Amino acid sequence: MYSLSLLQTKSPTASSCTMEFWTIPRTTQVTEVVVVLTLLVLLSTNVVESRKARANDYFHYSAISCRTHSASLTDFGGVGDGTTSNTKAFQAAINQLSQYASDGGSQLFVPAGKWLTGSFNLTSHFTLFLHKDAVLLASQEESEWAVIDPLPSYGRGRDTDGGRFISLIFGTNLTDVVITGDNGTIDGQGALWWEKFHKKKLKYTRPYLIEIMYSDKVQISNLTLLNSPSWNVHPVYSSNVLVQGITILAPVNSPNTDGINPDSCTNTRIEDCYIVSGDDCVAVKSGWDEYGIAYGMPTKQLVIRRLTCISPTSAVIALGSEMSGGIQDVRAEDIVAINSESGVRIKTAVGRGGFVKDIYVRGMTMNTMKWAFWMTGNYGSHADNNYDPNALPVIQNVNYRDVIAENVTMAARLEGISGAPFTGICMSNVTIKLAKKAKKVLWNCTDIAGISSAVVPQPCDLLPDQGVGKITSCDFPEESLPIDNVQLQMCGYQRKYF
Ligand SMILES: *[C@@H]1O[C@H](CO)[C@@H](O)[C@H](O)[C@H]1NC(C)=O
Ligand SMILES: *[C@@H]1O[C@H](CO)[C@@H](O)[C@H](O)[C@H]1NC(C)=O
Ligand SMILES: *[C@@H]1O[C@H](CO)[C@@H](O)[C@H](O)[C@H]1NC(C)=O
Ligand SMILES: *[C@@H]1O[C@H](CO)[C@@H](O)[C@H](O)[C@H]1NC(C)=O
Ligand SMILES: *[C@@H]1O[C@H](CO)[C@@H](O)[C@H](O)[C@H]1NC(C)=O
Ligand SMILES: *[C@@H]1O[C@H](CO)[C@@H](O)[C@H](O)[C@H]1NC(C)=O
Ligand SMILES: *[C@@H]1O[C@H](CO)[C@@H](O)[C@H](O)[C@H]1NC(C)=O
Repeated sequence: MYSLSLLQTKSPTASSCTMEFWTIPRTTQVTEVVVVLTLLVLLSTNVVESRKARANDYFHYSAISCRTHSASLTDFGGVGDGTTSNTKAFQAAINQLSQYASDGGSQLFVPAGKWLTGSFNLTSHFTLFLHKDAVLLASQEESEWAVIDPLPSYGRGRDTDGGRFISLIFGTNLTDVVITGDNGTIDGQGALWWEKFHKKKLKYTRPYLIEIMYSDKVQISNLTLLNSPSWNVHPVYSSNVLVQGITILAPVNSPNTDGINPDSCTNTRIEDCYIVSGDDCVAVKSGWDEYGIAYGMPTKQLVIRRLTCISPTSAVIALGSEMSGGIQDVRAEDIVAINSESGVRIKTAVGRGGFVKDIYVRGMTMNTMKWAFWMTGNYGSHADNNYDPNALPVIQNVNYRDVIAENVTMAARLEGISGAPFTGICMSNVTIKLAKKAKKVLWNCTDIAGISSAVVPQPCDLLPDQGVGKITSCDFPEESLPIDNVQLQMCGYQRKYF
């Protein structure tokens, strides 16, 4: 099914291919004929070139829904020169297109070019589509970013007390929203923000690149995200979220440039992503200490597959450290880690409350790791001093199978909480090859309980070997999650020029 939407919005650029050169008066003089011929040659080359460009303004893409109405950012005065601010053009375009929410929805096309912009807000039944050579350049002017309230489940901003700069692409209380492209780019130009953060010159928490709050049916796909000021993709208090085909790149020493952070979300699918960053490639969250406990909204039904991660100082997938609303039913499959600190890591602390349970990891290849397995019960990092010291997190039923790791400094560091041990840990079919400079003690386990089978080198006593015959594998659910049954449609965008 193709939904070919022709441009319905009035478009000043659509008919601008004029032929004024034809009106040059003809003369019999040889030099002038030469001039005219030269012009004709130049003109015909231009026509061929612009035909090529036009042909390229027809795209297919797959999405959760197609749209009836379309417009281009240039219809709203957008200028892709890298220096003109397009904040107003984006806001005007989306305001205008929001009227079609109940009439088949709308899509906004961002052509090739460099589009400097501050933050803008999305609308429902809407698609933002970036051409492969479109680059959104995030403004470095603080005035281009509204300040919004902290998240209720966090009680404060992550960098500072109080408010936070709104994200570059922001949406709240939406349904059916798509941010996609033909691998177009969103460049956060984060260097200035990182510097301000290091020098403690920020009044508010740094912006993220994409944040979608309180929304249902969200797709973020086929984009490259560069140098975010902080986290890259943050769906929060949302459901039915699909993140697919995203490349995320940031310097490995940039502060808090987490890749994708599903936070208090239900039914999320993250797949085919490639992430190099200065923090966790995927960080699963659900609120912070007493604020997260009070809000009580878990992240559950999350599938992560075919993720490649490079993160030398952080985890491939972190569960926490903000997990106070709970994390349940996470399935990670076919994960590749290169030069990362740890694999699928649990981070929590006394005072967090909440839970991390029913975690399933199957098929993980790691090369050059500090710890193949890491769980931390004393992560600290509290929102404030009002956390409840009796709020102990429950960590239960965490399964790892079919893991191969090479060049590993220490097999596992598994530190539960005294009086609240992490239980039901299962590891099977795990082969860890050590680095030349490996630690003497390969497994250090405290306050944990579980079992193992076919794990090399031999695990700690708290993960007793069941023998290959007794258990062959740790659990991995057979039935699929609802998000796996979401059907994508083939949609189109066509630019109508004449
Ligand atoms: C992303 O791009 C790939 C390759 O071009 C394509 O197969 C896939 O359908 C696209 N996915 C989405 C959700 O647009
Ligand atoms: C975007 O939404 C936020 C939160 O609702 C709001 O504070 C901000 O003013 C909106 N921005 C614009 C340009 O409307
Ligand atoms: C958005 O949804 C939340 C949660 O349902 C609600 O508390 C809030 O008032 C809504 N905001 C708007 C602007 O509708
Ligand atoms: C998208 O662009 C990035 C950055 O240029 C590149 O590394 C990646 O391979 C591209 N992805 C696809 C599917 O073309
Ligand atoms: C092994 O890991 C060390 C760091 O621990 C790194 O310097 C070295 O290049 C890695 N070797 C290979 C073969 O990847
Ligand atoms: C063990 O894991 C490897 C991949 O890591 C896989 O190829 C192999 O089939 C697994 N063996 C069993 C018995 O499941
Ligand atoms: C093992 O971990 C505990 C904390 O859980 C730490 O106190 C101890 O020093 C570690 N031992 C080694 C040999 O690393």
